[in-house]
Amino acid sequence: MKKIKVQAANGSYEILCGRGVLARAAHAVAGLGHKDAVFLVSSPRVWGHWGARVEKIFKGSRRATILFDDREAAKNLVTVERTCRKLVRSGADRRALLVAVGGGVVGDVAGFVAASYARGIGLVHVPTTLVAQVDSAIGGKTGVNLPEGKNLVGAFYPPKLVLADPELLRTLPLREFRSGIYEIIKYGVIGDASLFRFLERGMEKLLRRDVAALDFVIERAAAQKAWVVSRDERESGLREILNFGHTFAHALESVTRYRKYLHGEAVGWGMIAAAKLAVANGLFSSRDAGRLTGLIARVGPLPSWPDVSAARLITAMQADKKTRAGRLRFVLPQRIGKVRCGVQADPKILFQILRECASAGSRK
Ligand SMILES: NC(=O)c1ccc[n+]([C@@H]2O[C@H](COP(=O)([O-])OP(=O)(O)OC[C@H]3O[C@@H](n4cnc5c(N)ncnc54)[C@H](O)[C@@H]3O)[C@@H](O)[C@H]2O)c1
Ligand SMILES: [Zn+2]
Repeated sequence: MKKIKVQAANGSYEILCGRGVLARAAHAVAGLGHKDAVFLVSSPRVWGHWGARVEKIFKGSRRATILFDDREAAKNLVTVERTCRKLVRSGADRRALLVAVGGGVVGDVAGFVAASYARGIGLVHVPTTLVAQVDSAIGGKTGVNLPEGKNLVGAFYPPKLVLADPELLRTLPLREFRSGIYEIIKYGVIGDASLFRFLERGMEKLLRRDVAALDFVIERAAAQKAWVVSRDERESGLREILNFGHTFAHALESVTRYRKYLHGEAVGWGMIAAAKLAVANGLFSSRDAGRLTGLIARVGPLPSWPDVSAARLITAMQADKKTRAGRLRFVLPQRIGKVRCGVQADPKILFQILRECASAGSRK
């Protein structure tokens, strides 16, 4: 088991990761001092796999279990309201502690509930997807969608503890698992060349969910995210590096109405496009770009590039909330392990890159 410390504005918290963390969850949570006030929050699907085990672990301190649908379409204020009302009816007061057991949807909803219920109650994340273990459970971003867009209502609300046990990933559908691997590749590119080399050596092992390989990559990726958000919790500078591949990814997701790609898959394509753009700008070598696209290909086939014009994708990129005043800024790789933020692209080159991706993507 590894302990990774995260610094947040209102104190620090730990991520415990590795095999056996789940078994020790009740003990770790007891240390937070919310005696008999643990409210487990999850989804029916996750609970179907892990509920019996988790309830057994928390049998001494659990007050209630609250389940909600964790489809992206249910990540909204209605689910927040229903969950808050269930908390009231189960007797939750200001001393309550929410233990969110699930993927990013459960974590984002439960996190926002914890931030607002009784003006803020304790929160522990027990992430059950690879994406949640290396990304969404770390860094304190919580929130829900509006019909007008994703994650538009939310709060920065760091948890008191994150418990990431790779054992929980055993039941994760393959496509969801692979989606998390693209985000792990991202961490290698933005700041951890040795993680990237490990992935190059051991991708097949990782895809088999070899426990030692999983332990290693989760720890390294979580440490990378923890390092970044500890230095820039509110995304005023450094945190932008986490956006590598994401300007393209958000556009791909939005033009396909979030139906064609899992987020990580869009990030896979986004990193391919960013690598091409970086090569065209003379920032990145073709050799390193080849290593990156080669590694992405080994994760498995990506859904094809969408059948939309380059102009439409660029419009979608300009509408992204992280774009400043419609001006496109990219996080581009300089070498494996280092990226540069705020790079502006020549529109002609950008068009060319998007066309190249379209022709590469239609052959997939
Ligand atoms: N807060 C952040 O910083 C942040 C970062 C990244 C993503 N997100 C958000 O996270 C969400 C995506 O989260 P995700 O990728 O973790 O997926 P998810 O929460 O959508 O879960 C994917 C599917 O896997 C199922 N599942 C979860 N754990 C399982 C398990 N162990 N076994 C079997 N099935 C399991 C879920 O029920 C669901 O059907 C998005 O809403 C995104 O906006 C937030
Ligand atoms: Zn992402």
